[in-house]
Amino acid sequence: MKKERLDKVIASQGLWSRNDVKNMIKRGEVSVNGVVVKDSSLKVSYADDIKINGQSLSQTEYVYIMLNKPKGVVSASEDKRDKTVVDILPDELKRKNLFPAGRLDKDTTGFSLITDDGDFAHRILSPARHVDKTYIAQVSDKIDVENAKKAFADGVVLGDGTVLLSAELELIDDSERQTFKVVIKEGKYHQIKRMFASLGTSVIELKRVAIGGLALDPDLQEGEARIITENELKLIEK
Ligand code: URA
Repeated sequence: MKKERLDKVIASQGLWSRNDVKNMIKRGEVSVNGVVVKDSSLKVSYADDIKINGQSLSQTEYVYIMLNKPKGVVSASEDKRDKTVVDILPDELKRKNLFPAGRLDKDTTGFSLITDDGDFAHRILSPARHVDKTYIAQVSDKIDVENAKKAFADGVVLGDGTVLLSAELELIDDSERQTFKVVIKEGKYHQIKRMFASLGTSVIELKRVAIGGLALDPDLQEGEARIITENELKLIEK
């Protein structure tokens, strides 16, 4: 198991600065496996029982956050012009090295998964792993549903010649503006917009509602975020 300096492990939980942590350790406020430790450089792992003033540090090596992304926010860790999905997280969820696992367009809303676990992100984004991404898309001009279903199932060929993996399409609202549920297994640039464009219509509203078997929490308002539990995390890769 990976070992890190004690002060680094505590500071990585995002509650105190590294300097604050060093001072807490000097003052004898920190114990590891029941023994008070005054050396910040002691190497510990995430399996060690670290207590601060007798309170267990609830520490996880990595964090996984579900954000209901609003429009106007970019899927990045930092941006010179726009607010990012990491900027809008509440302070208690912020920690170093967070990034969105996959990009939603600036005008797309819904489930943005933010983590500091690079291997996990790689796994869920890899087309070879086939983790479904489910979207609700409203389009401008009516299309023939059966024809569209077949085109999506066969694998749409984009304007630049890219052949997409098979995708599922279901009509969920047939009013003047049709609304569809779309399930894709990869995440090419503007993929859903380009898939519908290939059928001669435009996406006017797009929301991601699930990643793998984990649905966006309906209690999360746009702009709100919460931690993904361990059990929920398993649903993503199921
Ligand atoms: N497909 C798109 O076109 N945009 C997104 O944000 C996500 C999928």
